[in-house]
Amino acid sequence: MSVIEVEDLAKYYGDVRAVDGINFSVQEGEIFGFLGPNGAGKTTTINVLTGLARMTAGSVRVLNQSYPDNLRRAQEGIGVVPDESNLYPELSGMENLSFCGALYGIPAEERRERATELLERFGLADVAGRRFAAYSRGMKRKLTIAAALIHRPSILFLDEPTSGIDVASAREIRRMLVRLNEQGTTVFLTTHYIEEAQRLCHRVAFIVAGKIVRDAPLKQLLQEVGEESSLQFVVGGEATSAADILTAAYPDHVVSAGGDGQILLRGERLDDLTPAVRVLHDAGFAVREARVLRPTLEDVFVRVTGIEADEMTAQRGGGS
Ligand SMILES: Nc1ncnc2c1ncn2[C@@H]1O[C@H](COP(=O)(O)OP(=O)(O)O)[C@@H](O)[C@H]1O
Ligand SMILES: [Mg+2]
Repeated sequence: MSVIEVEDLAKYYGDVRAVDGINFSVQEGEIFGFLGPNGAGKTTTINVLTGLARMTAGSVRVLNQSYPDNLRRAQEGIGVVPDESNLYPELSGMENLSFCGALYGIPAEERRERATELLERFGLADVAGRRFAAYSRGMKRKLTIAAALIHRPSILFLDEPTSGIDVASAREIRRMLVRLNEQGTTVFLTTHYIEEAQRLCHRVAFIVAGKIVRDAPLKQLLQEVGEESSLQFVVGGEATSAADILTAAYPDHVVSAGGDGQILLRGERLDDLTPAVRVLHDAGFAVREARVLRPTLEDVFVRVTGIEADEMTAQRGGGS
């Protein structure tokens, strides 16, 4: 069952076509990722879906409520984690959660219980009484996610949930999202980290310059490049003569030799190192390193968009 349905959605700011006619749907129980470089239209899309911005054209249905008429009803069932936190700096962690709960009409005692449980779950119990302003970036992000969950939404929207925070917090957040999803919450997230999309998402849409250029299940995307894994070796001795040996043994594959004894063997169905290592060994070469290089979402992304992965991360103030 689809819980988000978007048709021909457009959002213009003057003549800037931030989102330029996109179509996609998100199934219940899915982790759906919007992957694209800075300025692609990710935040604009999430803002429209969560009611923070009005669409210029198109149709949006979230939890079977059509926008803009039934936006309020949809909002009862969604949680939103914006790219910049929307919490109050002068309130403590506990007070912020309790306040958010009050906005949804949750009775005081129930709010306290839920807040305590969330603070516990996000490892923030020790700082529950500390002002939000005094939290680290990672703690802030975690509390912002906790706040978005106070009314137990069935869809959680997150705009770049691990951008600009420390590695350990980012890892915790990814783990939290997986667990939350396993318990039934649908997750819609945006990211400019290809690896993050690959690690988390069941389905990924590539968005570039306001348009979706690809939208498919992660498995399918990986399968497309799956035939093209490669084997990498480091041999003791002359890499070029070792490469000649491999070329003779693998006439249908491509072999290239680099410096420091490095050899790369590319082609279809290369997932077992043993035969190639044996060939090299039998020819008298010491094999110092051998590994299978598996295709990644990055390979698909680069092929589809023509954008290199380092261009993606270079764009936003270094991001971490
Ligand atoms: N409030 C706004 N006014 C004018 N232009 C905007 C506004 N918000 C976003 N844009 C423009 O829309 C495009 C998409 O922005 P955005 O959705 O923030 O991209 P992303 O989140 O993928 O980085 C960019 O060109 C951006 O400059
Ligand atoms: Mg953004």
